[in-house]
Amino acid sequence: MSSSQIDRKGIAASRGIVIGPAYVLRRARLVIPEYRREGVISRLQQQCFDYGAQQGVGSVYTLVIEENTPAMRWLEQRGFKLHRTLVMPGMPVYKEMTVPRDANIRQTRPEDLPAIAALLNETWQVFELYEPASAEALKQFISRTPRYSFSNLLVLQDGGEILACLGYWDWSKIMRITVQALNWKIRMIGLIVRTASIFRPMPGPIKPGDILKQIMLTPIGFKDPAYLSVLLRHVNNLALQMGIEHIFCVCEQNHAILKSMRGFIRVNTKYHLYIKTFQQIGLNADKPVFIDGIDM
Ligand SMILES: CC(C)(COP(=O)(O)OP(=O)(O)OC[C@H]1O[C@@H](n2cnc3c(N)ncnc32)[C@H](O)[C@@H]1OP(=O)(O)O)[C@@H](O)C(=O)NCCC(=O)NCCS
Repeated sequence: MSSSQIDRKGIAASRGIVIGPAYVLRRARLVIPEYRREGVISRLQQQCFDYGAQQGVGSVYTLVIEENTPAMRWLEQRGFKLHRTLVMPGMPVYKEMTVPRDANIRQTRPEDLPAIAALLNETWQVFELYEPASAEALKQFISRTPRYSFSNLLVLQDGGEILACLGYWDWSKIMRITVQALNWKIRMIGLIVRTASIFRPMPGPIKPGDILKQIMLTPIGFKDPAYLSVLLRHVNNLALQMGIEHIFCVCEQNHAILKSMRGFIRVNTKYHLYIKTFQQIGLNADKPVFIDGIDM
């Protein structure tokens, strides 16, 4: 099975899988194990690429989790180039986090959208693949994202100024992720966590058969990581009440977002960003890239 989608840039998501004119190409690839290596994805993707090239798509990107050799081999044999490696920090939700008593945190209102768009642009404007936000684009993002509403987007305010905004999307409401097996890294972490839990409260281990309840942080904007940290702690406490077990986002490996996660247990998973270019438009490899968590 495979799903592909091409939308007009700007009408589609606030983020793109494309660098280039006019169109955004979004896709997911999954072939059931019995039919793998029979050319299923190659045939589907070729149609998708042909259509994209006709429509003026400049480039396509995709993210591959570390150690997914079949997917990386597939991409490399089909003209994708490894652009950079990002990180998906995962924070287990297992205890209440302290939030300053005087923090003015509230749900977004429609009239906040211009200020939030400005804050997002300030946070991400120098990043490749970032498409500037606007109040209208944010409104569309909120209305088209399943199980997402204004209540999912929080702001930290001081006087009339929005210091940070943080959205969270509970993707377990639209898809079920069941753990089939654990890789060596997760098994090692499980061992460490079980040992540490003798001395202090720790998150429960992940086991095969578990149905994961997770949230993805999006959008993220902040004037300083310390402000974002306050919102993140608040979201952790909401997640705890909602029975969510993990919080995720995606960013550059040294991004300031990571500073806001001090005090959390954080497990980093690397994601390789692969890009295929159809036209003579390239990305500047020296610039950091922006990936919206919704693309995960
Ligand atoms: C990655 C995936 C989509 C490939 O689908 P597929 O239909 O088997 O791929 P195709 O038959 O079109 O292409 C085969 C090519 O893929 C790569 N490939 C597929 N399985 C591989 C494996 N087990 N080891 C190494 N390379 C592999 C090779 O490049 C292979 O070409 P080759 O046979 O000439 O060496 C499939 O393995 C899958 O569904 N994996 C699980 C989901 C996933 O990881 N998706 C990617 C997320 S980014």
